[in-house]
Amino acid sequence: MHVTGKLYRTIWPSDTDRGVVKIIDQRHLPHLFVVEELRTVSEVCTAIREMHVRGAGLIGAAAGFGMHLAALTAPKQDFAGFVRQAAVDLVQTRPTAGNLAWAVNRQLAALDREDTLSAKRDRAFTVACEIAEEDAKFCRLIGEHGKKIIAEISRQKGGGVVNILTHCNAGWLAFVDYGSATAPIYAAHAEGIKVHVWVDETRPWLQGAKLTAWELKEEGVPHTLIADNTGGHLMQHGLVDLVIVGTDRTTRCGDVANKIGTYLKALAAHDNKIPFYVALPSSTFDWTICDGLAEIPIEQRSGWEITHIRGLSEAAELTTIAIAPPDTATLNYGFDVTPARLITGLISERGVMQASEEDILRLYPEQKEK
Ligand code: MRU
Repeated sequence: MHVTGKLYRTIWPSDTDRGVVKIIDQRHLPHLFVVEELRTVSEVCTAIREMHVRGAGLIGAAAGFGMHLAALTAPKQDFAGFVRQAAVDLVQTRPTAGNLAWAVNRQLAALDREDTLSAKRDRAFTVACEIAEEDAKFCRLIGEHGKKIIAEISRQKGGGVVNILTHCNAGWLAFVDYGSATAPIYAAHAEGIKVHVWVDETRPWLQGAKLTAWELKEEGVPHTLIADNTGGHLMQHGLVDLVIVGTDRTTRCGDVANKIGTYLKALAAHDNKIPFYVALPSSTFDWTICDGLAEIPIEQRSGWEITHIRGLSEAAELTTIAIAPPDTATLNYGFDVTPARLITGLISERGVMQASEEDILRLYPEQKEK
């Protein structure tokens, strides 16, 4: 998508050096646009753990490139051991997003099928690029399917503005391109459908304020930043037509783990009879589990993210300040689970489905046996 008019993806291999993978370091947005170069799997692990890259699809793609760098730098005498350890390290960086393990397992299976060291290295690079390409393609298709939902609401409103609420950042910055929740919005906007986005700020990391607001601005999509607790009030007053969020892991029965606070938005939408959609590429499905509350591991992060805040000072310097009394006890869950019963539908690259095992398997019949 666009950054000051120029097209970017969130991750890409260097044109000139296969040993270099480039990312947009999202910790500095929206104030600074910094491209970081990664050369080792350990640098990729740090980038994922410390949120230089984040968002389910993007950390999946980053893990794919991490496995490529592991294969490239693995010592010949212990190639298998080095790559196996890299896989373990990558999967452990963040526990909730399903795309991480999915990408690592895809790489391991591909490496297994090659015999020579150079074939393995070539294959790891090809697969990393394929994962990134597929992520972008699937998000573009999510846009095409989801756009129809927005178009229908626009039609019902006689062409009036469709107000869409989103939580966190499931935009292009959370993927390789286009985003999941934002893809239908970008597609509708490009087609001239009038849209306006309510952007939840998304405490404590502020992905909404820092990232979603920035990317919507770069694409010229009308939006308004709101404090996290505003959505319910807006819904009660008829100011939200539709909610679209992303997901970090979705079970085969349609339960969804997404950024902390998503569940409360789903409850409010349900109470106000507002359609609540979740957009995801199929790499986010965890086909091995059904009960999201019992089975999805929920990441806990440092309480420092709650007690401190980073932004531009009045002197235009990037500054971190404390906002709570020193030594305040904290609890910082990164995600919560929204049960399938609160979800109107899931939007994936294959179309729109109900959040039920039966309907999910209608679009993914190859997963029936798992
Ligand atoms: O902690 P993050 O920023 O990696 O969390 C991911 C998110 O942005 C979301 O919850 C998002 O909606 C799903 S990821 C596409």
